[in-house]
Amino acid sequence: MEKIFVQGGEKLYGTVKISGMKNSALPIIFSTILVKGESVLENIPIVSDVHNALSILSQMGATVKYEDLHTVRIKTENIDPNSLNMELISKMRASSYLMGTLLAVFGKVMMAYPGGCNFGQRPIDEHLKGFTKMGAKCKESDGYVEITTDKKLKNGKITLDKISVGATINMILASVLTEGKTIICNTAMEPHIDDTICFLNKCGANIKRVGNTIHIRGVDRLKGVRYSIFPDTIEALTYISCVGATKGVIELKNIRTEHLSSILPLFEYMGMDITDFGNDTLNIRSSIQLCGAHVRTAPYPGFPTDFHPQFSSLLCYTNGGGSVDETIFPGRFAYVNELKKMGGRVDKTNSQVFIMPSELIGTETCATDLRAGAALIVASLGAKGVSTVNNVGFILRGYEDIVGKLSSLGAIIKVI
Ligand code: UD1
Repeated sequence: MEKIFVQGGEKLYGTVKISGMKNSALPIIFSTILVKGESVLENIPIVSDVHNALSILSQMGATVKYEDLHTVRIKTENIDPNSLNMELISKMRASSYLMGTLLAVFGKVMMAYPGGCNFGQRPIDEHLKGFTKMGAKCKESDGYVEITTDKKLKNGKITLDKISVGATINMILASVLTEGKTIICNTAMEPHIDDTICFLNKCGANIKRVGNTIHIRGVDRLKGVRYSIFPDTIEALTYISCVGATKGVIELKNIRTEHLSSILPLFEYMGMDITDFGNDTLNIRSSIQLCGAHVRTAPYPGFPTDFHPQFSSLLCYTNGGGSVDETIFPGRFAYVNELKKMGGRVDKTNSQVFIMPSELIGTETCATDLRAGAALIVASLGAKGVSTVNNVGFILRGYEDIVGKLSSLGAIIKVI
């Protein structure tokens, strides 16, 4: 297994180009199952989750060809819904989008439970309740789920009991080709949902989001189009926390400022200067003394749970420290012990972590999931001495060329 070595203490300077958003590339890749004709997806991030999603499709018989490093052409007309790679499915959460798409096209799907980062229970009950409301039958046994319908899926009103990104997208995918109108209430509003909607609408779908309600008028078919994936908000936030941990000045390119607008004021409050240069470019200057902050994770536009661990690392490098109250994934604290190994003054109680200002010292740590791994990179960049982060595979699931990008900003970092 690869390791990342970081010699901490280097200020970051320069420009970093943010990649396409993993969490929308994945549903959009699986959405191509609904499309007749070729989908050409641009700004695809080079990360292992995307590679695995494309492998699942090609093993089902889809044609998948790279036009260049970040553009992929996908044709799914001849896929076989029975040729699913259960091992890959059980490794990634986004494989859950096979439920909505295969149900919509073939009226059935039998697959392993979606996997993904392990931070406690990640049920799919909201997805299954929605499919059931649409007239499908759902059976679960021995790590597998089977969803079938012998009639056309019904449209109507679906109200999610819990705000869920995955269930919201799955309801859209299952209903986009049904007859009549579907209304989905209490939906999540993350940018990856809008990205998926934009892609489907470009293909000919009729989907409109009004606040947290989504209105869908079913269409007969979706046509292939060329589409560019939105930039990754969590990757952008991770680089902002890297510059906060090391101080320095960086420019983020290829971002959508509007997707960050609810969280940028927090960084300004903490003492960073943020200048929006337009043209998808943001300049971040971190002052030597950052003040701390207390945050609570919440569905978008709240503080993202996917940025919780990286923010905790940043808090170590502030004057006042702070806390994170995790309201979405209560098991998302595996990074806490790793920060403690580095000398982090961190205390966890139930769903909350308190972080005191800490002088972190480089040591050997272990990434336990994607964002926890990113948090250790943030911590290592600001620490004294050399840090080693093991289990790098987790980080490569969601961060394109993180080592190359940080090196280009002046960090001393390498993968071995
Ligand atoms: C997606 C993202 C993940 C992110 C999360 C929240 C992908 C591949 N993953 O995960 O990176 O951390 O959104 O922004 O896009 N829940 C239920 N029942 C369900 C579904 C969810 O109780 O059927 C609960 C979850 O346990 C959690 C909350 O709802 O407490 C939110 O989960 P959800 O938004 O569904 O997360 P994912 O789609 O799995």
